[in-house]
Amino acid sequence: MRLKIAVLAGDGIGPEVTHEATQILRAVAELGGHDFTFTSGLIGGVAITAHDTPLPQATLNLALESDAVLLGAVGDNKFNALPPDKRPESGLLQIRQALGGFANLRPSLAFKALATSSPLRPEVTADVDILFVRELLGGLYFGQPRWWNKDTGEAINTMRYTKSEVVRVARVAFELASKRRKKVTSVDKANVLEVSQLWRATVTEVAKDYPDVTLEHQLVDSMAMHLMNIPRNFDVVLTENLFGDILSDESGVITGSLGMLPSATIGGAVNLYEPVHGSAPDIAGTGKANPLGAILTAAMILRHSANLETDAKAIETAVHKVLDAGYRTPDIAQTGSTSQIVTTPQMGKLVHQALVESIDRRQSMHAV
Ligand code: NAD
Ligand code: IPM
Ligand code: MN
Repeated sequence: MRLKIAVLAGDGIGPEVTHEATQILRAVAELGGHDFTFTSGLIGGVAITAHDTPLPQATLNLALESDAVLLGAVGDNKFNALPPDKRPESGLLQIRQALGGFANLRPSLAFKALATSSPLRPEVTADVDILFVRELLGGLYFGQPRWWNKDTGEAINTMRYTKSEVVRVARVAFELASKRRKKVTSVDKANVLEVSQLWRATVTEVAKDYPDVTLEHQLVDSMAMHLMNIPRNFDVVLTENLFGDILSDESGVITGSLGMLPSATIGGAVNLYEPVHGSAPDIAGTGKANPLGAILTAAMILRHSANLETDAKAIETAVHKVLDAGYRTPDIAQTGSTSQIVTTPQMGKLVHQALVESIDRRQSMHAV
């Protein structure tokens, strides 16, 4: 299997976590005899510093010529005073638009070993397995007009969706739900916003093509509460861009840390893979970053861009094993437990070892 992966590490903890994720992919390639190549490109604050733009043309070309893009994180406080279109984050929004992926899959799993890492009671988080399908190319992020008039003290952003944009992302959610627990919860603000009324009517229409999938609608404000109260009730959660951004970070509480969450963006010319978290400037350079979100993102590359489901599962199993053995980065440390605190590279190496062991075992089983 050949796979050309563009690695855009970005800012803050981005390079720290993507390094561990690429090491895991290298191990999968070596053990499975695959030909994976990794080419680095600049994006975000590091690209502004080097080339005065958050998305240099060379990076965009590299991404478009690749089979998959692995992105760490963008964002650096030193650019906070810049307008949105000049900031590191605009590099990410531009590459999302250029690659064209509109369905951002953000799984949120409760790991048994982390039951007491979450501030929620273990009986609330037990067996939680949610898949957020976040629309990624519409809504407030891209709607026109948008401006800030500093003289008049007025600013505007536009939440806009077309029916076809809702249909295509809804189909992804229903297809995925039909292979899972067959439930879609569509989240909107249809009691106030016309855009949400369009969203709700369109999702209801799409649902007719999937009679075996149950559809429920939730308003986003109460959804934020239900997600913490009864997260087990949810299977696939379908929502627009900004609501999905907020709710997926909230779901980090179920897992114990934002640093555990992976994502894959599908539906465009090239799939884009990023952990859900940001550049975490508060811990960058300290070795405290949790690389598991990025490593689980690597598993999603194998699943969605390489059709290597067994290897994707092997990575996920290796992560489970390391957590079951009690190893923790500080964000998922449990008070009063016997867990062992490790650094970012140590966590990466532990997953690597567990992966090599499980793949070796698989191969020796085949040989028998
Ligand atoms: P953040 O996700 O960077 O961090 C939020 C909190 O979670 C921080 O306390 C951080 O230390 C912690 N955290 C995040 N990831 C972690 C990990 N892997 N291990 C351990 N702890 C982790 O969000 P923020 O602080 O609001 O934003 C910082 C910057 O990141 C901003 O510039 C923002 O725009 C950017 N951002 C980028 C992306 C992206 O590139 N995909 C996503 C979100 C935020
Ligand atoms: C995310 C981030 C991005 C978003 C920012 C950095 C543009 O928060 O990937 O969740 O809002 O989509
Ligand atoms: Mn976010």
